[in-house]
Amino acid sequence: MQQVQAVVALGKGQPVTLTTINIPDPGPGEAVVKIQACGVCHTDLHYREGGINDDFPFLLGHEAAGVVESVGDGVTDLVPGDFVVLNWRAVCGECRACKRGEAQYCFNTHNAKQKMTLAEDGRELSPALGIGAFAEKTLVAAGQCTKVDPQARAAAVGLLGCGVMAGIGAAINTGAVTRGKSVAVIGCGGVGVAAIAGSALAGASPIIAVDIDPKKLAKAKEMGATHTVDSSQVDAVEEIKRISAETYPGADGADVVIEAVGRPETWKQAFYARDLAGTVVLVGVPTPDMSVPEIPLIDVFGRGGSLKSSWYGDCLPSRDFPMLVDLYQQGRLDLDAFVTEEIGIGDIEAAFEKMHHGDVLRSVVVF
Ligand code: APR
Ligand code: ZN
Ligand code: ZN
Repeated sequence: MQQVQAVVALGKGQPVTLTTINIPDPGPGEAVVKIQACGVCHTDLHYREGGINDDFPFLLGHEAAGVVESVGDGVTDLVPGDFVVLNWRAVCGECRACKRGEAQYCFNTHNAKQKMTLAEDGRELSPALGIGAFAEKTLVAAGQCTKVDPQARAAAVGLLGCGVMAGIGAAINTGAVTRGKSVAVIGCGGVGVAAIAGSALAGASPIIAVDIDPKKLAKAKEMGATHTVDSSQVDAVEEIKRISAETYPGADGADVVIEAVGRPETWKQAFYARDLAGTVVLVGVPTPDMSVPEIPLIDVFGRGGSLKSSWYGDCLPSRDFPMLVDLYQQGRLDLDAFVTEEIGIGDIEAAFEKMHHGDVLRSVVVF
């Protein structure tokens, strides 16, 4: 066992606390990782506000990269010193999805079995998304660690652990965006601009960014959008159809429309903005009270194509993380553009505050 400094959410709605935690030595199939960088995500704030569940205290932080310090029994594919990006869920290798070679849909993912605890009173911590990386070190399942190029900047590549991967994956994995396809992305927050970057990487054109905030649209353009649509001013569906038809005469919308807001009204826009036989990808996370908007069934039938949702960008960390890090190292994917600022572990509350103003894509804690 060892003790390290960490940022913990002790109770609903309370500001986070910098405190000491206990980290057990890694058990079978586990690893202790020395964290180098961890992004501050909306989901961390969501945990702190009690919006996910009531399993306080939470050890926050989940978009992280670091170096393996030690591994437990039976861990054969990691050694101390490996540079890794962490993911939410280690796949089981045994379920139907894993066996048919689609581990991104694993039915049986897991995290570390042992618990980290508060030094003060021994209470068990719930690590955010099974990671908990606003800490000098954390305990995870070995399968949550993916080795990537050790030359890469930790603050940038750690972001692949969550929102950036979700966005890029929504485009290239779920939406199967390629050269020769038109794409529209509704909602240009961190996830939406990552979908735009992924679409640009795949060679799609046009890439139409839609948002109600002109600042977000400016960022979307920097990240590879060819066109922007302010849907607080104009009809998003009409504009997506018009722009798509400029490149592909006769098109009645975009080939792939990615919804990155997570609301019924924007999903409905996505539904009607796709071309015949086009694909709608829902990557924005709705709240449990939201329903599919009323759409005549004949419209679903008549347009053909597919309506998909994208969970964690349908990513396979072992396949996607090293590939995207290599593309970043080659200068073909600008992960640095997602890092608005590097901050210290004591600045997380201030970073939560900045999220509300919409100027920051990601604040990243560096150790
Ligand atoms: N039409 C278009 N864009 C909208 C609309 C709307 N009606 N309402 C909000 N937006 C834009 C916001 O202006 C913002 O740019 O959607 C974007 C949402 O971005 P963020 O709040 O930064 O969220 P992000 O981290 O990108 O995540 C997107 O996935 O993880 C979930 O809870 C998250 O539902 C959210 C979604
Ligand atoms: Zn996240
Ligand atoms: Zn499985």
